[in-house]
Amino acid sequence: MSAATHSVAILGGTGGLGKHISLAFLTEFKSSFPTVRVLTRDPSSAAAHAIAEKGATLVKLNESDLPRILEEAFKDIDVIVNALPVHISEEAKQAVIYAAAKSDVKVYFLDEFGQDHRVEGFPGSNHPEWINKQRIAAETRRKLQGKKVIALYCGLFFDYSLTVMGVDVEKNVYSAYGSPSQRFSTTSKTDVARSIARLAILALDPATAHKVPNDVRIAGATVSHEEIRDIVARVKGVSRGEIHSEDLQPHKEALRQNPGENFIEYLRVIIAEGKGNLSLDNAMELVNPGEAFWKWTTVEDHMRAL
Ligand SMILES: NC(=O)c1ccc[n+]([C@@H]2O[C@H](COP(=O)([O-])OP(=O)(O)OC[C@H]3O[C@@H](n4cnc5c(N)ncnc54)[C@H](OP(=O)(O)O)[C@@H]3O)[C@@H](O)[C@H]2O)c1
Repeated sequence: MSAATHSVAILGGTGGLGKHISLAFLTEFKSSFPTVRVLTRDPSSAAAHAIAEKGATLVKLNESDLPRILEEAFKDIDVIVNALPVHISEEAKQAVIYAAAKSDVKVYFLDEFGQDHRVEGFPGSNHPEWINKQRIAAETRRKLQGKKVIALYCGLFFDYSLTVMGVDVEKNVYSAYGSPSQRFSTTSKTDVARSIARLAILALDPATAHKVPNDVRIAGATVSHEEIRDIVARVKGVSRGEIHSEDLQPHKEALRQNPGENFIEYLRVIIAEGKGNLSLDNAMELVNPGEAFWKWTTVEDHMRAL
């Protein structure tokens, strides 16, 4: 690992993904990042305490004074990771972009961390969340010219993928839209967090910065419903469960007629069409060459821990 030291500010660093990001910087990547600032609306929360105990400096976010607080929080910071949820106010989104643009930050991670929606297939009726993410990404890149702005796509998180993809481990039933052998990518939150830290180090090092794309895809594991069913049977010592397969076309047609609202339906349809498979054209070897930094968590590992 490079001997250079850096500083990072994490927005949403107490959250579902964010706490893993905070912990990765505070533990495995501590020698590269002695300064970790986590922005939170409530520094007294249990999640904020847990991170502070590991060495993070907490910065209290106050919506009424956001521009000033962000400006202060981004001072002397090399990397900003935006792990805020999509539903935060437009005003807050704009305040983050404005403060990041004004700062001397060198690397900025967009609030992506999901499907690679650049390849999604709903022309004219894409999901509002993805349309919004694309708008914010374009605006951030325009306003942060001269800084490295990275979108990291990792597919579904393990825990999320199980709940939304029709996988019921308890009942040992697996429901796919379309073919149950269609594969999709899923990554553990810990590995997403480690990848962010590694990309930050690579992007900050003048010798490797040119290797880091603006749009980065990773795929901790790529599996189908059938493969998950077989993994559960192996790991839990149960018989191979039932597979259900639903016709994809009515689901796709329903979204065409009623675009918008149902995010999980969008995910399931695009995954059924093979667009959730990030196993090709990804940056796994750049991020973690030959698994030199960590072993990617497998679906087997995840099932064993359930
Ligand atoms: N790939 C996947 O399967 C998947 C699944 C879920 C999310 N994601 C992505 O991961 C990223 C983070 O999502 P997440 O679910 O981890 O976020 P989250 O846990 O919902 O929120 C992260 C943190 O943001 C702060 N926060 C929450 N609501 C806020 C508000 N209205 N205004 C200001 N701050 C607020 C909270 O911190 P404090 O209370 O400490 O302020 C919270 O701990 C997003 O880009 C999301 O799209 C991906």
